[in-house]
Amino acid sequence: MKKVYIETLGCQMNKSDAERMYGMLEHLDYTQTEEPREADMLVINTCSIRQLSEDKAYSQIGVWGKWKKSRPDLKIVFAGCVAQQAGEKLFRRAPYVDLVLGTQRLYELPELVKRIENGERVVSVEEKPYKENSTQIKRVKGVNAWIPIMEGCNNFCTYCIVPYTRGRERSRAPELIINEVKKALEEGFKEITLLGQNVDSYGKDLEPHQNLSWLLRQINSLDGKFRIRFVTSYPTDITEELINTVIELDKVCEYFHIPMQSGDDYILKKMNRRYDYATYKQICDNIRSRIPDVTITSDFIAGFPGETEEQFQNTLKAMSELELDYSNTAAYSPREKTVAAKWVDLYVPEDVKTERLARLNEHNRACCLKSNQKYVGREMEVLVEKFEEDKNIITGRTRNNKIVHIPCEKDLTGEFVNVTITSARTWYLRGEIIN
Ligand code: SAH
Ligand code: SF4
Ligand code: F3S
Repeated sequence: MKKVYIETLGCQMNKSDAERMYGMLEHLDYTQTEEPREADMLVINTCSIRQLSEDKAYSQIGVWGKWKKSRPDLKIVFAGCVAQQAGEKLFRRAPYVDLVLGTQRLYELPELVKRIENGERVVSVEEKPYKENSTQIKRVKGVNAWIPIMEGCNNFCTYCIVPYTRGRERSRAPELIINEVKKALEEGFKEITLLGQNVDSYGKDLEPHQNLSWLLRQINSLDGKFRIRFVTSYPTDITEELINTVIELDKVCEYFHIPMQSGDDYILKKMNRRYDYATYKQICDNIRSRIPDVTITSDFIAGFPGETEEQFQNTLKAMSELELDYSNTAAYSPREKTVAAKWVDLYVPEDVKTERLARLNEHNRACCLKSNQKYVGREMEVLVEKFEEDKNIITGRTRNNKIVHIPCEKDLTGEFVNVTITSARTWYLRGEIIN
């Protein structure tokens, strides 16, 4: 048996792709190794959302390229979002790479591996999606199974590379998704997270049309006790029907991830987001008024081209006013091909971006702590995700996605336990099991 090591950078979609790669490679007699130096094949799933993630990918293959000098049989596969963009050009920069695999060619991997094993060097980044084969998945062990339901994006926010790396929106066939969910449940997974760059766009391109609410109902009707989540939602795609569905279905958790990006109307327009702050607030208020204890998380960018101090402060204001439970934050990073990257004259200086990001993070911490404190004294159901034997602690999540640490001497991974929340920290809660 040959050994393969896969390094995965970037978002959950890349992690999900890695599980499919392992699955396909297993059928070609590769076993998974956690030790890159032992591997016969090295694969990197790259991310290009920010310059830093792209740089990481190049520096990693640089190291692997050096290994190859003393081990010419070593195969190196450059996959994911940077690969999709780089294509043939990658060979000039990294001549030691054997295969450049675009995001939409994932399922072609078995054929391509055979070719590189025969000594060919191959680029496959054509945007026409390759027919999928989802029966071969080797999931990372745990309680949560990630299941992509749609891929790609049609929104073209002016800062974002994703539409160029993941192509146009494509929904997966409902039968495929439901079979994957059934299989994951049979394997013992207790939580299903439906994944998509714009998960609420699910089904618009299918014949007949379907939507996310419909899919949630199909999955909710499967037997057994398990939870269902879905990420990421584009604000204005959250329909009244979807909110009603979350309320109505017992397995669907009280959790929405709705990136706002900025709290300032002018900046939102420049970002090509299709809402203003008032609209986002209305969506958020509506969800909160109808779903008690719902968690709403968001993403923000600090230092978008042209952002003034006053406009940045609108973002801070928005974060507190809406009492967002948690936010991912980042400093703006110009991405090749995107519209905003061309506004060089408007770039915010690096030191200002860094300072704004620090303030945004400070604000985020305060929001998280405030959100967590609401739950002290409350009883909540936790799905246990791991046991830290050395500390006698189990950790897991509530339905509304709060992390809880619980003193316990037994490994209860995969079980649902009822706990009383005893205290709140910034990033997690502490609780005790109710006997
Ligand atoms: N589809 C989701 C976001 C996917 S990208 C949405 O519509 O919101 C994940 C996050 O990366 C984005 O929400 C954004 O906050 C961040 N991001 C994207 N491009 C970026 C860039 N050029 N610089 C900094 N952050 C960026
Ligand atoms: Fe990027 Fe915007 Fe698409 Fe999200 S909606 S993936 S931020 S282009
Ligand atoms: Fe990165 Fe591609 Fe995901 S750019 S964030 S790996 S879709």
